[in-house]
Amino acid sequence: MALTIGCVGCGNMGGAIMAGLARKGGYNLCGYNRTAARMRPLEELGVRPLESPLAVAQAADVLVLGVKPYQAADVLGQMRPGLTADKTLVSVAAGVSRQKLTQAVESRCPVVRCMPNTPALVGKGVFALCFEDPALPDARKGDVLALFNALGVCVELPESKFTAFSALIGAGPAYVFAMMQGLVQAGVTLGFQHRESREMVTALFAGCAKMVEQSSAPLMQLRDDVCSPGGLTIAGVNVLDREGLVGLLVDSVLAANTRGKEMES
Ligand SMILES: NC(=O)c1ccc[n+]([C@@H]2O[C@H](COP(=O)([O-])OP(=O)(O)OC[C@H]3O[C@@H](n4cnc5c(N)ncnc54)[C@H](OP(=O)(O)O)[C@@H]3O)[C@@H](O)[C@H]2O)c1
Repeated sequence: MALTIGCVGCGNMGGAIMAGLARKGGYNLCGYNRTAARMRPLEELGVRPLESPLAVAQAADVLVLGVKPYQAADVLGQMRPGLTADKTLVSVAAGVSRQKLTQAVESRCPVVRCMPNTPALVGKGVFALCFEDPALPDARKGDVLALFNALGVCVELPESKFTAFSALIGAGPAYVFAMMQGLVQAGVTLGFQHRESREMVTALFAGCAKMVEQSSAPLMQLRDDVCSPGGLTIAGVNVLDREGLVGLLVDSVLAANTRGKEMES
């Protein structure tokens, strides 16, 4: 029988997860959002709107918590009477620990922590999943993995690695967008229209990601293959090396990781 997936807090992330599952098919879907109007696009995709967080807790096998971190405890309190050991809570709330989630549901159901990144909004997310709750049955872990595999790339991580994941992949879009901005700006400086430059740079990133995905060659080799001796590419790459782009990226991720750890304590 098809699993019922319910979402409480169908905003940007909760809504994207539900829309992705609706497009994939094979699940019964339901949800509740404080502002009912935000449910409309999901209803058109076949997500059944329910009247309260409790109603979702009662109806669904897997419950996605998509509210803001500061709202999590209150909303879980409302869901609690409907939670039982055969249901699974999957929280995407950043920084809300498994321990806090388990406390908020008074251990009534197993808890999975999930950390998505923003490309999840367009069906290209990377999801970290923490399956460390000993109360989680193996079969249900498989269900949750199958669910998120339908939405992007999943990595199973211990909770202790969530801050590192956030610094690298959660924050990752900001680093990538900054690099794209620099290249688009360079294109405009060389006389391309802004729109034209942005289109070309977007295709450049997508094409390179595809090449890396399909190749097992070291990244440095892929880079060197583009640099003909005495050519124009090596002239540009020499500037990147002199200014230390690679080191800068490493330092950026480490700074984000340090800040993430400060925020946890
Ligand atoms: N967006 C991202 O890229 C991203 C990345 C990683 C993690 N996350 C996590 O995802 C969660 C949601 O973030 P978001 O960006 O999707 O925020 P969002 O768009 O504001 O979504 C939150 C939704 O929760 C609803 N809500 C608030 N209180 C509620 C209640 N009592 N009952 C039912 N619904 C309620 C809000 O309804 P209203 O429409 O009434 O405000 C809103 O639609 C956060 O915990 C965040 O840490 C997001």
